[in-house]
Amino acid sequence: MITGKVSIDQIMRKAYRHRILIPAFNVAYLPMIKPIVDTLKKTYTFGLVEVARPDVEKFGAKSFREVANRYYALADRQFSRLHLDHIPVIDEDGKNVHWEYLIRMGLELGYDSVMIDGSRLNLKENIAITKRVVDISHQQGVPVEAELGAVLGHEEGPLPSYEELFQTKKGFTSPEQAERFVKETGVDWLSVAIGNIHGAISGIAKNKRKVSARLNLDHLRELTRVTKIPLVLHGGSGVKKASLIEAVQNGITKINVGTSIRQIYEQSLSKKPDDVETAQMRVAEEIERLIKEEYEIAGSWNHLTKWIK
Ligand code: 13P
Repeated sequence: MITGKVSIDQIMRKAYRHRILIPAFNVAYLPMIKPIVDTLKKTYTFGLVEVARPDVEKFGAKSFREVANRYYALADRQFSRLHLDHIPVIDEDGKNVHWEYLIRMGLELGYDSVMIDGSRLNLKENIAITKRVVDISHQQGVPVEAELGAVLGHEEGPLPSYEELFQTKKGFTSPEQAERFVKETGVDWLSVAIGNIHGAISGIAKNKRKVSARLNLDHLRELTRVTKIPLVLHGGSGVKKASLIEAVQNGITKINVGTSIRQIYEQSLSKKPDDVETAQMRVAEEIERLIKEEYEIAGSWNHLTKWIK
C-alpha cells in the first residue's frame, strides 16, 4: 500500500514496470498547490507536485521553501510526493546557476526527488555533474532525474518550426549517449527529447497556446531498450493523446505539466483579479480533465498500491 512512508523511487519503479503514468504538475503560483493535491486525492490518482527554478524566478512560486512549507501543510502524502524540477547548471538565459547549493537546499527542505538539468553541457560534463548529484542525493535516499538531449522551448528567441524540429530530430536524445549516461551516472529517471518541447516562459510567447506535439515512438522504444529506467516527458502540455498513451506503453513513466495549468490560472485571475478561489477551481477542473480524459489514469493509486509492500 502507498503510505506516506513509501519512497518515490519504489513507486516510480512499479509504475514503470506496470506502465502507469505519474503526472507531475508544476507550481507556477503558490495557490496552485491546493487544487493539485486536492484533485489527486479526489480522483485516487498518484502524482507529483513539482516546482522548477523558472517557476520561482519568472512566475509566482516565490521560493522552494514556501512551496515545500505549503505542500506539507496541505498534502495527503498517500497521493503525492514533492519533486524539485529543473535545477539547471546553465539556465535558459545562459547564466551559470549555483546548482549544488539549490540541490542541497531541496534535500534539506524535504523534497522527495530532485532534477539536475545538465542538458546545456557537453556529454562528459553532464555525466560528471549528474553523477555528483546522484552521490549527494542517494546518501539521503533521494532519487535523481537528469536530462539528456534538448527539450527546447524555454530559451528566448525563435525556434525552428515544430515540423522541422520533428522531422530533423533536432535535440533528440541519442540512444548511444543515453546508454552510457545511465551506466556512468547511476541516475534514477531520465528526461528525454523525442518530439516534446517546453512551453515558452518569457516574452509574449508565454501567453500563447502551445503547439500540439507528437512523439517519435520508434526513437522512444530504442531509448527504453538501452536505458531500462523510468523515462520522463517534459513539455507535457498539449502532447497529442494518442502519442502519449503509446509512449506510456513504451517507457514514459512521468509527464511534466506546466504551461497549460499556469495559463488557466493566469487567465482566470486576469478576468477576476482578486478571485484566487475561482482560479484554483479552474486549475482543479483542468487537472481532473487531464487525469480522466487525456491520461486515463484516474484510480491509479488503487493499482499502484497493490504492488507496493
Ligand atoms: P510544459 O510547460 O510545456 O507543460 O512543460 C512543463 C515541464 O516540462 C516542466 O519541467
